[in-house]
Amino acid sequence: MKFEVEAGGQLNGTFRVPGDKSISHRSIMLGSLAEGVTHVTGFLEGEDSLATLNAFRAMGVEIEGPTEGNVTIHGVGLHGLKKPEKDLDVGNSGTSIRLLSGLLSGQSFSSTMVGDSSLNTRPMRRVTVPLAQMNAQVDSNDDGTPPLHVKGGGQLKGFSYDMPVASAQVKSCLLLAGLYAQGETCVTEPAPTRDHTERMLRGLGYEVTTTGNKICLQGGGTLTATNIDVPSDISSATFFIVGACIAEGSDITLEHVGINPTRIGVINILRLMGADITVQNEREVGGEPVADIRVRYSPLKGIKIPEEQVPLAIDEFPAIFIAASCATGETILTGAKELRVKESDRIQVMADGLVALGIDAKPTEDGIIIQPGQITGGTVDSHGDHRIAMSFAMAALIANGTIHITDCANVNTSFPGFVELAKNAGLNIKDLN
Ligand code: S3P
Repeated sequence: MKFEVEAGGQLNGTFRVPGDKSISHRSIMLGSLAEGVTHVTGFLEGEDSLATLNAFRAMGVEIEGPTEGNVTIHGVGLHGLKKPEKDLDVGNSGTSIRLLSGLLSGQSFSSTMVGDSSLNTRPMRRVTVPLAQMNAQVDSNDDGTPPLHVKGGGQLKGFSYDMPVASAQVKSCLLLAGLYAQGETCVTEPAPTRDHTERMLRGLGYEVTTTGNKICLQGGGTLTATNIDVPSDISSATFFIVGACIAEGSDITLEHVGINPTRIGVINILRLMGADITVQNEREVGGEPVADIRVRYSPLKGIKIPEEQVPLAIDEFPAIFIAASCATGETILTGAKELRVKESDRIQVMADGLVALGIDAKPTEDGIIIQPGQITGGTVDSHGDHRIAMSFAMAALIANGTIHITDCANVNTSFPGFVELAKNAGLNIKDLN
Protein backbone atom coordinates (compact mmCIF):
# COMPACT_ATOMS: atom_id res chain seq x y z
CA MET A 1 0.00 0.00 0.00
CA LYS A 2 1.24 3.51 -0.94
CA PHE A 3 0.14 6.97 0.13
CA GLU A 4 0.07 9.88 -2.28
CA VAL A 5 -0.28 13.17 -0.45
CA GLU A 6 -0.66 16.41 -2.36
CA ALA A 7 1.06 19.48 -1.03
CA GLY A 8 -0.83 22.05 1.02
CA GLY A 9 -3.98 22.20 3.08
CA GLN A 10 -4.73 22.75 6.73
CA LEU A 11 -6.38 20.67 9.46
CA ASN A 12 -9.69 21.67 10.97
CA GLY A 13 -12.51 20.13 12.98
CA THR A 14 -13.29 18.15 16.11
CA PHE A 15 -12.72 14.42 16.01
CA ARG A 16 -11.66 11.31 17.87
CA VAL A 17 -8.70 9.09 16.96
CA PRO A 18 -8.81 5.32 17.72
CA GLY A 19 -8.22 3.71 21.10
CA ASP A 20 -4.89 3.51 22.89
CA LYS A 21 -2.82 0.60 21.67
CA SER A 22 -0.95 -0.04 24.93
CA ILE A 23 -4.13 0.01 27.01
CA SER A 24 -6.00 -2.15 24.46
CA HIS A 25 -3.33 -4.88 24.67
CA ARG A 26 -3.40 -4.83 28.44
CA SER A 27 -7.23 -4.90 28.59
CA ILE A 28 -7.23 -8.23 26.75
CA MET A 29 -4.37 -9.71 28.79
CA LEU A 30 -5.65 -8.73 32.22
CA GLY A 31 -9.34 -9.21 31.35
CA SER A 32 -8.51 -12.77 30.28
CA LEU A 33 -6.66 -13.49 33.53
CA ALA A 34 -9.37 -11.96 35.71
CA GLU A 35 -12.18 -13.78 37.47
CA GLY A 36 -15.47 -12.72 35.89
CA VAL A 37 -16.56 -10.77 32.82
CA THR A 38 -14.75 -7.62 31.67
CA HIS A 39 -16.41 -5.21 29.24
CA VAL A 40 -14.00 -3.08 27.23
CA THR A 41 -15.09 0.04 25.32
CA GLY A 42 -12.94 2.08 22.95
CA PHE A 43 -10.79 -0.97 22.12
CA LEU A 44 -8.35 -0.37 19.25
CA GLU A 45 -9.34 -2.62 16.35
CA GLY A 46 -5.82 -2.45 14.91
CA GLU A 47 -3.76 -5.45 13.86
CA ASP A 48 -1.46 -5.29 16.91
CA SER A 49 -4.13 -5.38 19.59
CA LEU A 50 -6.13 -7.90 17.53
CA ALA A 51 -3.04 -10.14 17.53
CA THR A 52 -3.17 -10.12 21.33
CA LEU A 53 -6.92 -10.78 21.28
CA ASN A 54 -6.45 -13.74 18.92
CA ALA A 55 -3.64 -15.14 21.08
CA PHE A 56 -5.97 -15.28 24.09
CA ARG A 57 -8.75 -16.81 22.02
CA ALA A 58 -6.24 -19.44 20.94
CA MET A 59 -5.59 -20.11 24.64
CA GLY A 60 -9.27 -20.84 25.24
CA VAL A 61 -10.60 -17.48 26.40
CA GLU A 62 -14.09 -16.65 25.18
CA ILE A 63 -13.97 -13.12 23.79
CA GLU A 64 -16.95 -11.41 22.12
CA GLY A 65 -16.30 -8.67 19.58
CA PRO A 66 -14.73 -6.36 18.78
CA THR A 67 -17.78 -4.50 17.55
CA GLU A 68 -17.25 -0.77 17.27
CA GLY A 69 -14.66 -0.93 20.00
CA ASN A 70 -16.74 -3.09 22.34
CA VAL A 71 -15.17 -6.29 23.59
CA THR A 72 -16.48 -8.68 26.24
CA ILE A 73 -13.94 -10.98 27.84
CA HIS A 74 -14.98 -14.01 29.86
CA GLY A 75 -12.02 -14.16 32.20
CA VAL A 76 -10.59 -17.58 33.04
CA GLY A 77 -8.56 -16.59 36.10
CA LEU A 78 -4.78 -16.61 36.42
CA HIS A 79 -4.57 -20.37 35.97
CA GLY A 80 -7.32 -20.96 33.39
CA LEU A 81 -5.47 -20.53 30.08
CA LYS A 82 -5.16 -23.59 27.83
CA LYS A 83 -2.26 -24.68 25.67
CA PRO A 84 -2.71 -23.20 22.17
CA GLU A 85 -2.91 -25.74 19.36
CA LYS A 86 -0.60 -23.71 17.11
CA ASP A 87 2.17 -21.14 17.42
CA LEU A 88 0.86 -17.76 18.53
CA ASP A 89 1.32 -15.31 15.64
CA VAL A 90 1.75 -11.80 17.02
CA GLY A 91 2.54 -10.17 13.66
CA ASN A 92 4.28 -6.79 13.96
CA SER A 93 3.58 -6.37 17.67
CA GLY A 94 6.51 -5.87 20.04
CA THR A 95 4.13 -5.24 22.92
CA SER A 96 2.42 -8.59 22.42
CA ILE A 97 5.59 -10.65 22.24
CA ARG A 98 7.37 -8.95 25.15
CA LEU A 99 4.45 -8.80 27.57
CA LEU A 100 3.30 -12.31 26.68
CA SER A 101 6.77 -13.76 27.21
CA GLY A 102 6.39 -12.92 30.91
CA LEU A 103 2.79 -14.02 31.18
CA LEU A 104 3.37 -17.31 29.31
CA SER A 105 6.37 -18.11 31.52
CA GLY A 106 3.93 -18.58 34.37
CA GLN A 107 1.72 -21.13 32.59
CA SER A 108 1.62 -24.89 33.03
CA PHE A 109 2.15 -25.37 29.26
CA SER A 110 4.89 -24.45 26.79
CA SER A 111 4.21 -22.17 23.83
CA THR A 112 5.84 -20.49 20.86
CA MET A 113 5.39 -16.95 19.57
CA VAL A 114 6.18 -15.97 15.98
CA GLY A 115 5.97 -12.63 14.18
CA ASP A 116 6.57 -10.78 10.93
CA SER A 117 9.91 -9.83 9.34
CA SER A 118 10.18 -6.57 11.34
CA LEU A 119 9.46 -8.29 14.67
CA ASN A 120 11.99 -10.98 13.77
CA THR A 121 14.78 -8.37 13.91
CA ARG A 122 13.87 -6.91 17.31
CA PRO A 123 15.87 -7.53 20.48
CA MET A 124 14.30 -9.93 22.99
CA ARG A 125 17.23 -10.51 25.38
CA ARG A 126 15.97 -7.54 27.36
CA VAL A 127 13.13 -9.88 28.47
CA THR A 128 14.65 -13.34 28.19
CA VAL A 129 17.65 -12.50 30.39
CA PRO A 130 15.73 -11.16 33.43
CA LEU A 131 13.04 -13.85 33.00
CA ALA A 132 15.78 -16.47 33.33
CA GLN A 133 16.65 -14.93 36.69
CA MET A 134 13.06 -15.66 37.73
CA ASN A 135 13.60 -19.30 36.80
CA ALA A 136 11.79 -18.99 33.45
CA GLN A 137 13.13 -20.37 30.21
CA VAL A 138 12.44 -18.38 27.06
CA ASP A 139 14.55 -19.39 24.05
CA SER A 140 15.17 -17.12 21.08
CA ASN A 141 17.41 -17.30 18.03
CA ASP A 142 21.13 -17.12 18.85
CA ASP A 143 21.11 -13.37 18.19
CA GLY A 144 18.27 -12.83 20.67
CA THR A 145 15.52 -12.36 18.08
CA PRO A 146 12.14 -14.14 17.72
CA PRO A 147 10.58 -16.66 17.43
CA LEU A 148 10.36 -17.16 21.20
CA HIS A 149 9.80 -20.58 22.75
CA VAL A 150 8.44 -20.26 26.27
CA LYS A 151 8.81 -23.25 28.55
CA GLY A 152 5.93 -23.78 30.91
CA GLY A 153 5.40 -25.94 33.94
CA GLY A 154 8.10 -24.50 36.21
CA GLN A 155 7.78 -22.43 39.35
CA LEU A 156 8.85 -18.81 38.92
CA LYS A 157 10.51 -17.00 41.79
CA GLY A 158 10.19 -13.31 42.58
CA PHE A 159 13.27 -11.11 42.27
CA SER A 160 14.41 -7.54 42.22
CA TYR A 161 15.60 -6.16 38.89
CA ASP A 162 17.27 -2.91 37.88
CA MET A 163 16.27 -2.37 34.27
CA PRO A 164 19.17 -1.23 32.08
CA VAL A 165 16.78 0.36 29.53
CA ALA A 166 13.75 2.52 30.26
CA SER A 167 11.19 0.15 28.78
CA ALA A 168 7.55 -0.25 29.76
CA GLN A 169 7.47 -3.48 27.79
CA VAL A 170 10.23 -5.01 29.91
CA LYS A 171 8.71 -3.69 33.14
CA SER A 172 5.28 -5.05 32.20
CA CYS A 173 6.68 -8.41 31.11
CA LEU A 174 8.35 -8.89 34.49
CA LEU A 175 5.32 -7.72 36.48
CA LEU A 176 3.10 -10.16 34.56
CA ALA A 177 5.57 -12.98 35.31
CA GLY A 178 5.57 -11.73 38.90
CA LEU A 179 1.86 -12.54 39.19
CA TYR A 180 2.90 -16.21 38.97
CA ALA A 181 6.09 -16.00 41.03
CA GLN A 182 6.74 -17.07 44.59
CA GLY A 183 7.28 -13.98 46.73
CA GLU A 184 7.82 -10.42 45.64
CA THR A 185 8.87 -9.13 42.22
CA CYS A 186 10.31 -5.61 42.05
CA VAL A 187 11.38 -3.69 38.96
CA THR A 188 13.34 -0.43 39.13
CA GLU A 189 13.31 1.73 36.02
CA PRO A 190 16.11 4.14 35.08
CA ALA A 191 13.48 6.73 34.07
CA PRO A 192 9.68 6.74 34.30
CA THR A 193 7.94 4.82 31.50
CA ARG A 194 4.26 4.34 30.72
CA ASP A 195 2.49 2.88 33.75
CA HIS A 196 -0.67 1.44 32.21
CA THR A 197 0.09 -2.06 33.49
CA GLU A 198 0.37 -0.89 37.08
CA ARG A 199 -2.78 1.22 36.81
CA MET A 200 -4.82 -1.57 35.25
CA LEU A 201 -3.60 -4.19 37.73
CA ARG A 202 -4.76 -1.90 40.54
CA GLY A 203 -8.06 -1.32 38.71
CA LEU A 204 -8.58 -5.11 38.76
CA GLY A 205 -7.94 -5.18 42.49
CA TYR A 206 -4.29 -6.31 42.50
CA GLU A 207 -1.94 -4.55 44.92
CA VAL A 208 1.03 -2.91 43.21
CA THR A 209 3.30 -0.53 45.08
CA THR A 210 5.25 2.23 43.40
CA THR A 211 8.00 3.90 45.42
CA GLY A 212 9.94 6.36 43.30
CA ASN A 213 11.06 4.38 40.26
CA LYS A 214 10.58 0.98 41.97
CA ILE A 215 7.45 -1.03 41.27
CA CYS A 216 6.65 -4.17 43.30
CA LEU A 217 3.97 -6.81 43.53
CA GLN A 218 3.51 -10.16 45.32
CA GLY A 219 2.72 -13.30 43.36
CA GLY A 220 -0.28 -15.49 43.99
CA GLY A 221 -3.13 -12.95 44.11
CA THR A 222 -6.26 -12.75 41.98
CA LEU A 223 -7.57 -10.27 39.43
CA THR A 224 -11.22 -9.23 39.57
CA ALA A 225 -13.04 -8.35 36.34
CA THR A 226 -14.08 -4.77 35.77
CA ASN A 227 -15.11 -2.46 32.95
CA ILE A 228 -12.33 -0.77 30.99
CA ASP A 229 -12.84 2.40 28.94
CA VAL A 230 -9.89 2.80 26.58
CA PRO A 231 -9.12 6.47 25.82
CA SER A 232 -7.95 7.64 22.38
CA ASP A 233 -4.27 7.03 21.75
CA ILE A 234 -2.09 10.11 22.23
CA SER A 235 0.40 8.44 19.88
CA SER A 236 -2.23 8.44 17.10
CA ALA A 237 -3.38 11.95 18.07
CA THR A 238 0.24 13.08 17.59
CA PHE A 239 0.09 13.03 13.77
CA PHE A 240 -2.82 15.48 13.85
CA ILE A 241 -1.26 17.55 16.63
CA VAL A 242 1.90 17.99 14.56
CA GLY A 243 -0.11 18.57 11.36
CA ALA A 244 -2.11 21.36 13.03
CA CYS A 245 1.06 22.90 14.51
CA ILE A 246 2.75 23.21 11.12
CA ALA A 247 -0.09 24.05 8.71
CA GLU A 248 -1.13 27.70 8.78
CA GLY A 249 -4.83 28.23 9.53
CA SER A 250 -5.25 24.88 11.33
CA ASP A 251 -7.46 24.58 14.41
CA ILE A 252 -8.42 21.10 15.63
CA THR A 253 -9.82 19.53 18.77
CA LEU A 254 -9.06 15.88 19.49
CA GLU A 255 -11.55 14.40 21.91
CA HIS A 256 -11.10 11.95 24.79
CA VAL A 257 -7.32 11.56 24.43
CA GLY A 258 -5.35 9.72 27.14
CA ILE A 259 -3.01 12.21 28.84
CA ASN A 260 -1.30 9.86 31.28
CA PRO A 261 1.74 11.85 32.54
CA THR A 262 4.02 9.04 31.30
CA ARG A 263 2.77 9.63 27.72
CA ILE A 264 2.65 13.40 27.27
CA GLY A 265 6.26 14.04 26.25
CA VAL A 266 5.01 15.08 22.81
CA ILE A 267 2.92 17.90 24.30
CA ASN A 268 5.79 19.01 26.53
CA ILE A 269 8.29 18.99 23.63
CA LEU A 270 6.01 20.75 21.12
CA ARG A 271 5.15 23.40 23.72
CA LEU A 272 8.87 24.02 24.25
CA MET A 273 9.04 24.55 20.47
CA GLY A 274 6.29 27.18 20.71
CA ALA A 275 3.21 25.09 19.85
CA ASP A 276 -0.26 26.37 20.74
CA ILE A 277 -1.76 23.34 22.52
CA THR A 278 -4.58 23.60 25.04
CA VAL A 279 -5.53 20.63 27.20
CA GLN A 280 -9.16 21.07 28.17
CA ASN A 281 -11.94 19.24 29.98
CA GLU A 282 -9.50 17.08 31.97
CA ARG A 283 -11.12 14.10 33.66
CA GLU A 284 -10.29 10.60 34.87
CA VAL A 285 -11.75 7.55 33.12
CA GLY A 286 -11.15 4.11 34.63
CA GLY A 287 -7.93 5.14 36.37
CA GLU A 288 -6.45 6.93 33.33
CA PRO A 289 -6.44 10.72 32.86
CA VAL A 290 -8.22 11.89 29.69
CA ALA A 291 -8.76 15.31 28.05
CA ASP A 292 -9.71 17.08 24.84
CA ILE A 293 -6.70 18.59 23.10
CA ARG A 294 -7.04 21.77 21.03
CA VAL A 295 -4.20 22.63 18.66
CA ARG A 296 -3.88 25.80 16.60
CA TYR A 297 -1.20 26.66 14.09
CA SER A 298 1.73 28.53 15.57
CA PRO A 299 5.29 29.09 14.28
CA LEU A 300 7.74 26.63 15.88
CA LYS A 301 11.35 27.04 16.92
CA GLY A 302 14.07 24.40 17.06
CA ILE A 303 15.22 23.18 20.50
CA LYS A 304 17.58 20.78 22.23
CA ILE A 305 15.07 18.14 23.32
CA PRO A 306 15.41 17.48 27.09
CA GLU A 307 16.55 13.86 27.57
CA GLU A 308 14.12 13.25 30.41
CA GLN A 309 11.28 13.71 27.90
CA VAL A 310 12.55 10.89 25.66
CA PRO A 311 10.83 7.90 27.34
CA LEU A 312 7.65 10.00 27.66
CA ALA A 313 7.56 10.61 23.89
CA ILE A 314 9.26 7.46 22.66
CA ASP A 315 6.72 6.65 19.91
CA GLU A 316 6.22 10.27 18.87
CA PHE A 317 9.66 11.14 17.50
CA PRO A 318 8.95 10.48 13.82
CA ALA A 319 6.22 13.14 13.97
CA ILE A 320 8.31 15.45 16.17
CA PHE A 321 11.08 15.29 13.52
CA ILE A 322 8.58 16.59 10.94
CA ALA A 323 7.73 19.47 13.29
CA ALA A 324 11.45 20.17 13.74
CA SER A 325 11.92 20.31 9.96
CA CYS A 326 9.41 23.20 9.76
CA ALA A 327 10.76 25.18 12.72
CA THR A 328 13.14 28.10 12.87
CA GLY A 329 16.56 26.93 14.05
CA GLU A 330 18.17 23.58 14.63
CA THR A 331 16.68 20.75 16.71
CA ILE A 332 18.97 18.29 18.49
CA LEU A 333 17.85 14.97 19.94
CA THR A 334 20.15 12.86 22.12
CA GLY A 335 19.60 9.92 24.48
CA ALA A 336 17.19 8.19 22.12
CA LYS A 337 19.11 5.10 21.02
CA GLU A 338 15.96 3.02 21.60
CA LEU A 339 14.52 4.54 18.42
CA ARG A 340 16.93 2.34 16.48
CA VAL A 341 15.14 -0.84 17.62
CA LYS A 342 11.49 0.08 17.10
CA GLU A 343 9.34 -1.20 14.20
CA SER A 344 12.18 0.16 12.04
CA ASP A 345 15.42 2.00 12.83
CA ARG A 346 13.49 5.23 13.29
CA ILE A 347 16.60 7.42 13.40
CA GLN A 348 17.98 6.18 10.08
CA VAL A 349 14.67 5.75 8.28
CA MET A 350 13.46 9.23 9.29
CA ALA A 351 16.80 10.80 8.37
CA ASP A 352 16.71 9.11 4.94
CA GLY A 353 13.12 10.23 4.36
CA LEU A 354 13.82 13.81 5.42
CA VAL A 355 16.89 14.00 3.19
CA ALA A 356 14.79 12.67 0.28
CA LEU A 357 12.47 15.65 0.90
CA GLY A 358 15.28 18.22 0.91
CA ILE A 359 15.85 18.54 4.67
CA ASP A 360 19.31 18.49 6.24
CA ALA A 361 18.91 15.69 8.82
CA LYS A 362 22.00 14.06 10.34
CA PRO A 363 21.55 10.83 12.25
CA THR A 364 23.77 10.37 15.31
CA GLU A 365 24.30 7.21 17.36
CA ASP A 366 21.54 8.11 19.82
CA GLY A 367 19.54 10.80 18.08
CA ILE A 368 19.42 13.25 15.20
CA ILE A 369 20.28 16.85 14.29
CA ILE A 370 17.74 18.56 12.05
CA GLN A 371 18.23 21.88 10.24
CA PRO A 372 14.83 23.09 9.15
CA GLY A 373 14.10 24.03 5.56
CA GLN A 374 11.53 23.83 2.79
CA ILE A 375 10.10 20.31 2.58
CA THR A 376 9.94 19.34 -1.07
CA GLY A 377 7.93 16.71 -2.89
CA GLY A 378 9.49 13.29 -3.32
CA THR A 379 9.27 9.62 -2.43
CA VAL A 380 9.83 8.24 1.05
CA ASP A 381 10.18 4.57 2.00
CA SER A 382 8.43 3.99 5.35
CA HIS A 383 10.09 0.55 5.73
CA GLY A 384 6.75 -0.86 6.83
CA ASP A 385 6.76 1.37 9.90
CA HIS A 386 3.27 2.74 10.62
CA ARG A 387 4.41 5.82 12.50
CA ILE A 388 6.92 6.80 9.81
CA ALA A 389 4.26 6.55 7.10
CA MET A 390 1.76 8.71 9.01
CA SER A 391 4.40 11.29 9.98
CA PHE A 392 5.50 11.86 6.39
CA ALA A 393 1.86 12.10 5.31
CA MET A 394 1.51 15.16 7.58
CA ALA A 395 4.70 16.66 6.14
CA ALA A 396 2.81 17.22 2.87
CA LEU A 397 0.80 19.99 4.57
CA ILE A 398 3.77 22.33 4.17
CA ALA A 399 5.63 20.67 1.29
CA ASN A 400 5.97 22.34 -2.11
CA GLY A 401 5.29 19.15 -4.07
CA THR A 402 3.46 15.82 -3.81
CA ILE A 403 4.87 13.29 -1.33
CA HIS A 404 4.69 9.56 -2.12
CA ILE A 405 5.14 7.14 0.76
CA THR A 406 5.73 3.44 0.13
CA ASP A 407 5.12 0.30 2.27
CA CYS A 408 2.24 1.78 4.27
CA ALA A 409 0.08 -1.32 4.98
CA ASN A 410 1.22 -1.44 8.61
CA VAL A 411 -0.64 1.78 9.37
CA ASN A 412 -3.41 -0.70 10.15
CA THR A 413 -1.41 -2.06 13.10
CA SER A 414 -2.20 1.06 15.14
CA PHE A 415 -4.49 3.37 13.18
CA PRO A 416 -7.23 1.75 11.10
CA GLY A 417 -9.10 4.49 9.21
CA PHE A 418 -6.15 6.92 9.20
CA VAL A 419 -6.55 7.92 5.55
CA GLU A 420 -10.27 8.61 5.90
CA LEU A 421 -9.88 10.63 9.10
CA ALA A 422 -6.91 12.59 7.75
CA LYS A 423 -8.84 13.37 4.55
CA ASN A 424 -11.84 14.62 6.53
CA ALA A 425 -9.54 16.81 8.62
CA GLY A 426 -8.09 18.45 5.48
CA LEU A 427 -5.10 16.39 4.31
CA ASN A 428 -5.01 15.73 0.54
CA ILE A 429 -4.20 12.04 0.95
CA LYS A 430 -5.02 9.06 -1.27
CA ASP A 431 -4.15 5.49 -0.59
CA LEU A 432 -3.02 3.69 -3.74
CA ASN A 433 -3.47 -0.02 -3.28
C1 S3P B 1 4.82 0.07 24.77
C2 S3P B 1 6.02 0.54 25.23
C3 S3P B 1 7.00 1.23 24.39
C4 S3P B 1 6.42 1.68 23.06
C5 S3P B 1 5.54 0.66 22.44
C6 S3P B 1 4.41 0.26 23.36
C7 S3P B 1 3.91 -0.61 25.70
O1 S3P B 1 8.08 0.34 24.14
O2 S3P B 1 7.44 2.05 22.16
O3 S3P B 1 4.98 1.17 21.22
O4 S3P B 1 2.72 -0.77 25.38
O5 S3P B 1 4.38 -1.01 26.79
P1 S3P B 1 9.32 0.25 25.18
O6 S3P B 1 8.70 0.12 26.49
O7 S3P B 1 10.11 -0.93 24.81
O8 S3P B 1 10.05 1.55 24.96
